[in-house]
This record gives sequence, structure tokens and C-alpha cells, in this order.
Amino acid sequence: MSNVTNPVRLALIGCGGISGAHVNGYKALFERGCREFIVTACCDVREQSARRRAQEIAAFQGSEPALFTDQTAMVKAGIADAADVCLPHCFHHSSAIPLLNEGLHVMVEKPIGITVKATRQIIESADKNGRVLATAENIRRYLTTRACAWAIREQHLIGEMRLVNVQSINYSQFDYTNPAMKWRGVKLLTGGGMIMDSGAHFTDMMQLLFGEVDEVYCTLNSYDHRPILDAPVIGNTTADVEDTWHAIIRFTSGLHVLWTHSRSLYGEAVSTANYYGSRGTMRALGFAFHPFQNGGTAVLADGTEVSNESLQADYMASLTEDEKNRLFPYGSTDGFAVEVWDFVNSIRTGQKPEMDGMAGLRAKVLCEACYESGVAGKPVKYNDVLNGTVDLYQRPINEYWKI
Ligand SMILES: NC(=O)c1ccc[n+]([C@@H]2O[C@H](COP(=O)([O-])OP(=O)(O)OC[C@H]3O[C@@H](n4cnc5c(N)ncnc54)[C@H](O)[C@@H]3O)[C@@H](O)[C@H]2O)c1
Repeated sequence: MSNVTNPVRLALIGCGGISGAHVNGYKALFERGCREFIVTACCDVREQSARRRAQEIAAFQGSEPALFTDQTAMVKAGIADAADVCLPHCFHHSSAIPLLNEGLHVMVEKPIGITVKATRQIIESADKNGRVLATAENIRRYLTTRACAWAIREQHLIGEMRLVNVQSINYSQFDYTNPAMKWRGVKLLTGGGMIMDSGAHFTDMMQLLFGEVDEVYCTLNSYDHRPILDAPVIGNTTADVEDTWHAIIRFTSGLHVLWTHSRSLYGEAVSTANYYGSRGTMRALGFAFHPFQNGGTAVLADGTEVSNESLQADYMASLTEDEKNRLFPYGSTDGFAVEVWDFVNSIRTGQKPEMDGMAGLRAKVLCEACYESGVAGKPVKYNDVLNGTVDLYQRPINEYWKI
């Protein structure tokens, strides 16, 4: 890649909740000896948020990133080759496209663009300008996740897949007085509710594990219509995103994944993440919508139990040194550190990132297919959502943001 300094000069744009995990990723790499990038700028409309991250970075990096409250000024300063975009979904495209047009390489937090159309525009800008575009997707990159994916896909530990049942049902309402939650309650700002938020991790993992999706049928419900005061851009409004859904995802292999969620139903909380195959069953540990982030266990047809620890040990033993260096750079097994290094490495070497814009789009399309099926009241084909011929749910978002 041309016009890149060595080390890559990185700007962090959006210094809210998840940027803390990105900074921990930078730190983990730095402390393990990585000098392939340096963070030169922190940008947030709230200067105190940018300052907090800049100080955290200075504490291990030794030099403090410059502070900006405006991305345009940051670009003008000419101190960054690349940007790590951690903004609310509605600003992903309006941040990433100008950055790419100004010649920066960009990594965007999931779910990449707010709609399919916005995502395609980001991808087109990267292609037109010859810049690296990566999707910041951490879940697939942990040792725990990679080990379970290897066991299912390559070792066929549980045989042919027969059914996947993932449910998370509880009563836990968002705190709409928290600025990080205000935009999460408004469809125009977030693009959808949790199908689009944590769900983006789930939809990425399902396709990573089980391949191409054929069709989706999904019901959507919103029981929470509490007021939200002073939401970004929109001001006072009411919550309008889905808080309850039931989706049936059919893969071209014939596998059906059942995916059910509510945060608005009372009584016993349910959390299930079972992956059933012809030779056994795997259970994902931890949060059901972050498949295998905390690892998994298996019970085989003959009753043998396979532990999380043995899965990881077997997986690591199967890797060559080159594979280990690429999958767990500098020995780090944290998904955020790995995604940052992968982005920087792509800029430095010209190699395709593990999760580029198109891979981000494919994860996103499955989220959108759930929404499109929900508003259509019938199953939708994945490819119709991918190519934009089915877009009823997304149309008002595209119109509002002039996408
Ligand atoms: N990978 C994960 O596990 C994970 C977890 C949470 C969030 N996320 C993703 O990270 C992104 C950000 O989520 P969050 O939870 O950090 O949100 P947040 O609301 O906590 O932070 C967003 C930050 O962006 C700032 N901001 C808003 N508009 C801006 C602008 N125009 N220029 C500069 N700064 C601006 C806000 O002041 C805020 O500090 C989203 O895409 C979300 O889906 C990923």
C-alpha cells in the first residue's frame, strides 16, 4: 500500500463505550511488543470523552494522541493514515465515506453501514479510493470462538448439523437516560434494535459456521414505547425499535436456526444456545448472541463430554506457527486486539482483512432480512435483501439520511 507511514498512524473516532475495548486492544498489542501502529488522534463530539481515551493511550504508548471534536479538522491536521470508527450506527457512513475519500484506511464497528445501501456506499468509496476497509467484528476472533468454530466446521465434532436453537428471553429494559442507550432506542439512529446491535455478531457467526443463508422468516414486536429525551439529531422521541423477535433462518444446506429474543417478557429468564448435530450437541457458554465468545462444551452421542479447555488445547495444537501468528498476533487472543492488528496488517501488507466490507455486509444482510421479513409478514430471500430489491424496512432510514 502506498502513502502509509511506518508505523501506521491511527485515529480513534468515537470515544464512547466500545472504544474502551478498542483501547484495551491497542494496549494489549503494545505491551506484547507491537509497534506496527501508533494512535495519533482521538476524536469525539464530547471533548472529555476524547481526552479520557487519549490519556489512557498515553499511559502505555508514551505519547498522547491529539484531541479533536470534529473529524474534518482531524483529517485536515494530516496526522492519521487510518481511522477506527466507533460511532453510533447512523454516523458510520457519514464518517467512513469522507475518510476514505480523503485517503484514509478505515475500520468501522459492526454493523458497518446503517442499511444495506449505506454499507454498499462505504464499500464503493473504499474500492474507488483503493483503501482498506475492515469491519470491526471481535466475536469471531477470540481463541474460544475460533476453537469452537474449528471443532464444528473442520473437525465435525458433532457431525452434520441438524438444528440450532438460540433463545434469550428476559425482562431488562434499557436505561434511556444513559446517552449510550438513547440512540439505541430509535430506529432512525440505530437502524433497528438488538437484531442489528448484538445481533450483528450472531449473524456473522451463523454464516461463518453454516455458510450461505437461503431464506428468513421473522416476527417483530415492540412493547417498549417509553419516551427518550434529547436523542442525538432527533431530540425528544419515543422508543420504536423491536424488543422481541422470533426468527427462523434457513441455510442453503437445509439447516434451520431458531433465534428468539425478548427483553420485555416477565417471569423466568431463559438463555439457551444449543447446536445439535448428528453425532452430538454443543452448548455455547456465555451470552447467547455472542456465539462461543466464552467457549463451548460438547456432549457426544456415546455420552462423552468434551470440555471447553480441551477444545481450545486441541485447536491450538492443530495450528502451525504461521497460523498462530496470523490468528493470534503477538500471542493475543482478545478479539479487539486481533481485529486492530488485522486492520493495521492489511494496510501495511496489502493483504485482505479477515473481515472486509463485503463480509461485514453479509453479516448485516442477515439482520436486515429479519427486519424485512418482519415488516413484510412473510419469508424473504437473503439474496433479495443483499441486492436491495427487498428494502421496505430500510427505506425510511435511507430517506431520512439521504442515503
Ligand atoms: N464489538 C462489540 O462488542 C460492540 C459493543 C458495543 C458497541 N459496539 C458498536 O460500537 C459502535 C459504538 O457503540 P458505543 O456503545 O461505543 O456507543 P456510545 O454511544 O457509547 O459511543 C459513541 C460515541 O460517539 C460519539 N459521537 C457521536 N457522534 C459523533 C461524531 N459525529 N463525531 C465524533 N464522535 C461522535 C459520542 O459522543 C460517543 O462518545 C456501534 O457501532 C456499536 O454497535 C460494538
